[in-house]
Amino acid sequence: MLRSDAVPVYLPGAVLRPVEREILYLASLAPSGHNTQPWFVKYIEPFHWIVCSDRTRWLPVLDPNQRETILSIGAFLQNLRYAARHFGYSCAMDLSARSNQDENIAIVQLKPTANLTSYDISGIKNRRTVRSGYLDDPLRKADVNYLINGEKAFVHFIPCGSREYKWLERYTLEANRIQMLRGPIMEELSAWVRFSSKEIERHHDGFTVDSMEINGFEGWYARHFLDKADVLKSSFAEKSIDKVSDQVSHSGGWMLITSTDESVKKLLEAGMRMQRLFLKVREKGIAMHPMTQILEEPALHQSAHRFIKVGHHIQFILRVGYLKKYPPPVSPRRPVETFIKA
Ligand SMILES: Cc1cc2nc3c(=O)[nH]c(=O)nc-3n(C[C@H](O)[C@H](O)[C@H](O)COP(=O)(O)O)c2cc1C
Repeated sequence: MLRSDAVPVYLPGAVLRPVEREILYLASLAPSGHNTQPWFVKYIEPFHWIVCSDRTRWLPVLDPNQRETILSIGAFLQNLRYAARHFGYSCAMDLSARSNQDENIAIVQLKPTANLTSYDISGIKNRRTVRSGYLDDPLRKADVNYLINGEKAFVHFIPCGSREYKWLERYTLEANRIQMLRGPIMEELSAWVRFSSKEIERHHDGFTVDSMEINGFEGWYARHFLDKADVLKSSFAEKSIDKVSDQVSHSGGWMLITSTDESVKKLLEAGMRMQRLFLKVREKGIAMHPMTQILEEPALHQSAHRFIKVGHHIQFILRVGYLKKYPPPVSPRRPVETFIKA
């Protein structure tokens, strides 16, 4: 069902139908590094679009090869496919990109199709990254089997207490430490932090006080008195490291998502695979936290492959764990109208 206030959106040169708008809105609820939402959509004709990479939303310091940009666009495509199915459309996706830097990533065409198995979009709407408050209970075997069912070759569970688990815990913290000391990385981060509600209303993207899980008095203070310059101060880095240290020491295990190679196609597939997993965890009361710093540090990335023998290229490192209480999503998204070009 569409919301009752759904109306067509008039763009210069095109009219976006309510169902198209809804599908693209649901697609945009996908996760992305720093919540940059590095996508836009070229509107060719009704139900026929090109999903594109927005280079103004890349993270050139943290992600110089746009690996994470493509993974994020993969997550967007997975949401798009599920949302289309919910509304009775099958979705053909043709890859256009030959490199991670191409603008046109995939041509998407939706076709009304009878008897599709329905998809419950509440999972897309309720998904969120949770970073704190993980319980230490190891993930139950039945839950792990449910999560990786059908994806065994590319989704790997690292159980609590294993040597790989200890390695990930130690070096995720180490990689965070390294990054917090790098000026350009922190400057790039500060450009995507939105402390005040004014900034959130203006940008509808990036990290907010809520999404960074800065709670209570500290959150109130951050909302009213901190600004981008504060992200560059050593006190911000120290607090962040303390938080990460606490985060990595609580989990029910880790998940790794791999790909057979690093081509655009395989990266998009890895992003889609990660999103399929992300959309399954909440129903089991499990939180998921991408912690990609090891993969962003070339030396540690190589060590990860030497130490953790998964046979393929690791594209995502994800901390997972049960929560007592699952919080609702808080991370902002841009209105659909702002990422469509007719
Ligand atoms: C490719 C990729 C890398 C990410 N890396 C991190 C990370 O290292 N640390 C982190 O806290 N969140 C990470 N995230 C999660 C994003 O910050 C999160 O998806 C974004 O802020 C939007 O929030 P939401 O997932 O709650 O909608 C990553 C997400 C993606 C898709």
